This record gives sequence, structure tokens and C-alpha cells, in this order.
Amino acid sequence: MTDASKMLTTFLEENSAEFLQNWRNKIVISDADLYKEEVLNNGIQMFYLVKRTIQSPLSEEEIMELARKLAQERVEANVNISEFIYNVNIGRSEIVKWVSNSGIESEELNPLIEKINSLFDRFSYLAVREYTEIKEKLLQDKVLYIDQTHKERLTILGQMSSSFVHEFRNPLTSVIGFTKLLHNDHPNLPYLDIMQHELEQLNYRISQFLHVSRKEIIESKREEFQLSTQLKELIEFLYPSLVDGDVSIHFDCKCDDNIIMKGNKDELRQVFLNLIMNSIDALQEIKGPREITINCWENNEKVQIDITNNGPKIEEKTIEVIFEPFFTTKDLGTGIGLYICKKLIEKHGGNIQCESNDEETTFSIGIPVESGVMNY
Ligand SMILES: Nc1ncnc2c1ncn2[C@@H]1O[C@H](COP(=O)(O)OP(=O)(O)OP(=O)(O)O)[C@@H](O)[C@H]1O
Ligand SMILES: [Mg+2]
Repeated sequence: MTDASKMLTTFLEENSAEFLQNWRNKIVISDADLYKEEVLNNGIQMFYLVKRTIQSPLSEEEIMELARKLAQERVEANVNISEFIYNVNIGRSEIVKWVSNSGIESEELNPLIEKINSLFDRFSYLAVREYTEIKEKLLQDKVLYIDQTHKERLTILGQMSSSFVHEFRNPLTSVIGFTKLLHNDHPNLPYLDIMQHELEQLNYRISQFLHVSRKEIIESKREEFQLSTQLKELIEFLYPSLVDGDVSIHFDCKCDDNIIMKGNKDELRQVFLNLIMNSIDALQEIKGPREITINCWENNEKVQIDITNNGPKIEEKTIEVIFEPFFTTKDLGTGIGLYICKKLIEKHGGNIQCESNDEETTFSIGIPVESGVMNY
């Protein structure tokens, strides 16, 4: 230890009470700070480190010990980190001011001030780094917790819908069948068309829940089918809803008709059905000609299907959440339509995305022609 270091250490020790009092008067401590009693104590420890660094260089671990303690306290104190930075900087400028009055020649004093500054720099850096890490970890834990409860809700929903579906589906299928027979025998019987429409709607809702039920998803089968035929059948099925909503639909399939897709026909039908129903709903918000266009083509062993409508723009922020379960803007929506679409498409090894501008909104699906049907 040099003479100057010894002198400075003695000077600091002799004046420590006054120095700390001065620092204490200048710093800010919020009333809400749970650790306000500890602040002075921490200042004393920092003062001790300053005396040590003048004598010999400190290891990272020595500085880290105090930095870690402070970071933890700052997180628990639940006040802004800026107060802490402010108080540390007050400590630094106060101490530099004090040592300048120690009577030591500036030639010998300057390297010591440099050491003090370097200690403060390292200390602030380590404390803020530690603070950020703890905060990030807390945030991650929170997200994990939310995800977990989210999954639990979905599992419960899955179990509920599974039993719900089994109990309602069979009688519904026979009622739909008998209504059709009745219609054949008595084509002019009034109200039958309304009943059929309502039953189809009910069937649609039930099938929707069927696809959230995990048990049913695992049991689903893979089969071969022609995409263009399936889409044409679906458009025919949706004819009453299209007329009702005053929507015209254009279908353009550039796929070779011989291309047979492999996948779960029912599940993919449900995806297209959800997307077209959403388009019909969205188009009700505009006055002019309401149009849906379906394009499909093959590209690199993948079938691409675009479902476009000229309805209102979906804002960028909304697009980020529309595939989340239970997100809906409709009074009677459940918000699981797009969530199911995404799950089912991903299960087929594909992807789905949405793009929207002032003119049109497109949901684009890409599915491998052959492989990629997972969990079968
Ligand atoms: N083609 C579209 N144009 C504009 N907005 C859309 C379109 N498709 C979906 N949306 C928006 O995304 C939301 C979520 O759609 P999703 O199909 O998941 O649920 P939903 O249609 O509201 O209810 P559900 O399908 O369960 O009956 C909709 O409420 C709507 O705001
Ligand atoms: Mg929907």
C-alpha cells in the first residue's frame, strides 16, 4: 500500500460519519420502499468497498456479493431502479468531492480517484445486470404460470366437450337424417328448411368442439381425397349461408385434379368451413359487393390454399392474437374457430397465416401433399 493510499484511507475513516450523513441527506428513498432501512447500511458497505479498492484491487466476486444483495432488494422493494442508480451516483460524486479535499497531491490522488470511479462503474453494471436477470426470470415464471393455467382450461374444455359431443352427436345425426327423409316425402312441408338449417348449425358447433377434444384428435384417421372435390362440396353445403349473407364465392383450383391429398378429410373440411364462415361474418360489415375467393395451387410438394375476402381490414395487433383460443370480437362467438384451424393445420405438418389490408383479408394455408400428418 502506498503512502497516498494509506493517507486517503485514514482520511475516509476519520470523516466517514460526516460523509455518510451528507450522502444520506441527498439521496432519494421512496416511502413505498420495503428496504428503506437497509439503504444506509448498503451505503456503509459500499463505503467499505471504496476503502478496500484504494488499498488493493477487488475481485469481481467481492463486488458481486453486494451487487447481488442490492439487486434482490431492489426487485423486492418494487420501486423503480432509477432511484438506486441515482443514489449510487450521488455516492460517487460525493466521495470524489470529499477525497479532493484530502490534501493529497493531485498526481498521487488521481490514480486513486480512477480506482474509485472504476469500482462504481463495475458495481452499477453488476447490480443492474443482476436486477434485470431477476426481473426477467420473474416475468418468465409469470408467463409459464399463465401458459400452464391456459393449458389446464383447455384440458377441462377438452374433457367437457368430449363427453358433450358423445352424448349429443348420435341423437342429432338421427334427427338430421329423419328431417331429410321427411323433406323427401313432403317437399312442401313448411318450416322444414328452417329446421334443417338450424340443425346444421348445431352440428357445426358440435363438430367445432369435437376438434378441441384431445381424445377425438388422437383417434382421427388419415385418408386420401381430392382437395378440389372437397372444396366444391363444401361450397355447395354452404350455399344457403352464402345466399343469406349476400356473398358470392369464386373458386379457382390450379391443382391437377389427379392430385390426391393425404390427411384427415373431416378435420380439413372443418378448417375450410371455419375460414369461410368467418369471411361471411366479416363481409356483413361492408355494403358493396361481398366476395370470397378461394385459390389453390401446388408448390414444392405443398398444397397452398388462399381464402380471401374483401371485408374490413384486421389490424396488425389483432392478427397477432386471432389464433389464440377464446379471442373473439363477435357477440355470439366462442373464439375457438381459428385456434382449431391452426391446431389442425399444424397437426397436418402445415402452417396457416393471415394478411390483411384495406382491400382484402387472406388466410393462407400450406400443407404437405403427402407426408407430415402427425400424431396418427
Ligand atoms: N376473415 C376475417 N375478417 C375479419 N376478421 C376476422 C376474420 N376471421 C376472423 N376474424 C376475427 O378473428 C376473431 C376470431 O375468429 P375465430 O374464428 O377464432 O372466432 P369467432 O369467429 O369469433 O368465434 P367462433 O369461430 O368460435 O364462432 C373473430 O372474432 C374476428 O374478429
Ligand atoms: Mg369463427
